[in-house]
Amino acid sequence: MKIEGTIAILGTGNIGSSIAEGLLSSGEYKSEDIILTRRRRDLLKTYEQRGFPVTEDNLEAVEKAGVVILAVRPQQAETLLDQISGVLSRGEKILVSVVTDIAIADMRKYIPVNVPVIRVMPNTAIAVRQSMTCLCAEEAYKKELEKVRRIFEHLGRTVIIEEELMDSATVLAACGVAFFMRAIRAASQGGIQIGFHSDEALKIAAQTARGAAELLLSKGSHPESEIDNVTTPKGCTIAGLNEMEHQGFSSAIIKGIMASYEKAGSLHQG
Ligand SMILES: NC(=O)c1ccc[n+]([C@@H]2O[C@H](COP(=O)([O-])OP(=O)(O)OC[C@H]3O[C@@H](n4cnc5c(N)ncnc54)[C@H](OP(=O)(O)O)[C@@H]3O)[C@@H](O)[C@H]2O)c1
Repeated sequence: MKIEGTIAILGTGNIGSSIAEGLLSSGEYKSEDIILTRRRRDLLKTYEQRGFPVTEDNLEAVEKAGVVILAVRPQQAETLLDQISGVLSRGEKILVSVVTDIAIADMRKYIPVNVPVIRVMPNTAIAVRQSMTCLCAEEAYKKELEKVRRIFEHLGRTVIIEEELMDSATVLAACGVAFFMRAIRAASQGGIQIGFHSDEALKIAAQTARGAAELLLSKGSHPESEIDNVTTPKGCTIAGLNEMEHQGFSSAIIKGIMASYEKAGSLHQG
């Protein structure tokens, strides 16, 4: 279900453009419903040709929108919040921030309490409507949180979380895309070494990863029980799996997630 009005995306970079693509492909929004901004407006030319309203003027975009999505880097966010705060508080607008490491309390230094602020952590798979999106809001804005959740439900799966878990959501869901990409690339490199052409190896590895994820999501099963279905005694799966563990497979992923988490909590200053 579409909520009223136009969506403005302030900061059409990697995630802003991915959100725009997802909204459009959901069929719930037309390109003319999605206003895109960035300072270097010339880089939005292809979007303009596809019918998206584009501008470098954030105030104009906020003025016209019911939902305003803030998608700039953490270091760029506070200046922008300061800039749009006056226009945001006129009319019933919802501010949605996908910015890492800027808490709602920090945004409240600029944004008046009568403006609903929803923090959202999607990932770039939102472009193909397969995002894992975590959301949170202040207690007073549960209704608006639900409205925003409905938008993101068209773009993948959603989970409502406590704000204190937002950095964790950034790491597991947003950075997670890169982690799984690297795992798929490694599998495809192994595939080349055992005989496949690179394009075949990548296709086989990527579809196998999708199938494994789909088994978990559609059956609600645990990874270890799905692994039991693949491992025969003295077989080749357990030989490969155990060798991967001897080389630190699970440990490398857990340590990587911890390193990412430490960094996520300090982006704002960086
Ligand atoms: N990438 C992801 O997977 C992902 C996922 C979830 C959340 N996030 C979060 O989303 C935010 C953006 O990340 P990103 O990877 O998309 O970064 P990015 O590619 O650098 O995009 C940021 C965009 O903001 C624009 N911008 C900067 N200042 C602006 C301003 N004052 N007005 C309008 N536009 C402005 C920049 O374009 P100009 O320089 O032309 O203005 C750029 O296109 C970050 O806070 C990140 O933590 C990212």
